[in-house]
Amino acid sequence: MGNRETLLELLKSEKNCWISGEILRQDLGISRNAVSKHIRALRNKGYEIESSTKKGYRLDGPQDLIIPQEILDGLNTRVLGRQEIFCLKETDSTNSQARAIADGGAGEGTLVLAESQTLGRGRKGRTWFSPKGEGLFISMILRPLMSPMESSRLTLLAAVALAEALIDSTGLEIRIKWPNDLLCNGRKVAGILTELSTDMDTVNHVIIGLGLNVNTPRKSFPEDLKEKASSLLVESGRPHSRCKITQLFLERFELHYDTLADHGFPQLLSRWKALSDSVGQKVCVEMIDKTLTGIIQDVDSNGFLILEDEKRVRHSILSGDVIPLTGKKNDR
Ligand code: BTN
Repeated sequence: MGNRETLLELLKSEKNCWISGEILRQDLGISRNAVSKHIRALRNKGYEIESSTKKGYRLDGPQDLIIPQEILDGLNTRVLGRQEIFCLKETDSTNSQARAIADGGAGEGTLVLAESQTLGRGRKGRTWFSPKGEGLFISMILRPLMSPMESSRLTLLAAVALAEALIDSTGLEIRIKWPNDLLCNGRKVAGILTELSTDMDTVNHVIIGLGLNVNTPRKSFPEDLKEKASSLLVESGRPHSRCKITQLFLERFELHYDTLADHGFPQLLSRWKALSDSVGQKVCVEMIDKTLTGIIQDVDSNGFLILEDEKRVRHSILSGDVIPLTGKKNDR
């Protein structure tokens, strides 16, 4: 650990308390000037550090910085986040950035995160509400050895990993709505956008983009989302650490990704079903070219939705919007 990291650790260990410049200088064995230089560099990274000529320095908390150093601090993964982590203040879309970086050859596990997005993209050409500092907008680059057909499994995997991370870190009851919406009390708190680059029958790369409403107050949501969307803050009544959730998500994702490679899809699929309340529900599924009404029977081994319509005909659906017909709030 270098002097700057040690200095940060000292400030963190005394969060919200003053530490004199002299103590920092002595502990690190460096000059006062060097202490000030490191403090300046930490401030430039986004840490809010107060200084007083009499009292020294104080790290103000809580700080939930989306910067590589904080994401890596305590992260327990082998691949995800072990290549480059790009943390952007503002970008058009982290998925678009990740795709450009992947086209340039970036390796599996490269991450792109942003504090806000100006053109955040959702499924079916929708926009994704991406206000500054309140949400989590992450895209990761994967290079799986699987066919394009099988890659829809990764969307379900991401939904399972995120649901587990959220249940662990917030205690909230999170449910998955096929294929990739995360709901809390019937309102959408997160969505996943999977984008594929293929070459004939092989996958070049997959971008998994995840948008999560973390600390968004109810009043911040645009009118058209107020009823159907929510955030972890609204549902739990307290703020949550975006950095901690990112770490938990990456760890869970990697665990399931390894299991998928070693043991196939069945284990993951049953986990997905356990976290979803889709099976057995009467729904309407809106697809690009038609709308079907029926009962969800299952999700098959490629992640397709199996719907039985009113005439008892079974349909296998790759992509669509599921609208529950049981009076639930979310229809997005
Ligand atoms: C959905 O429609 O439910 C999917 C939403 C996915 C949004 C995320 S935010 C990070 C990444 N970048 C994007 O532009 N979209 C995804």
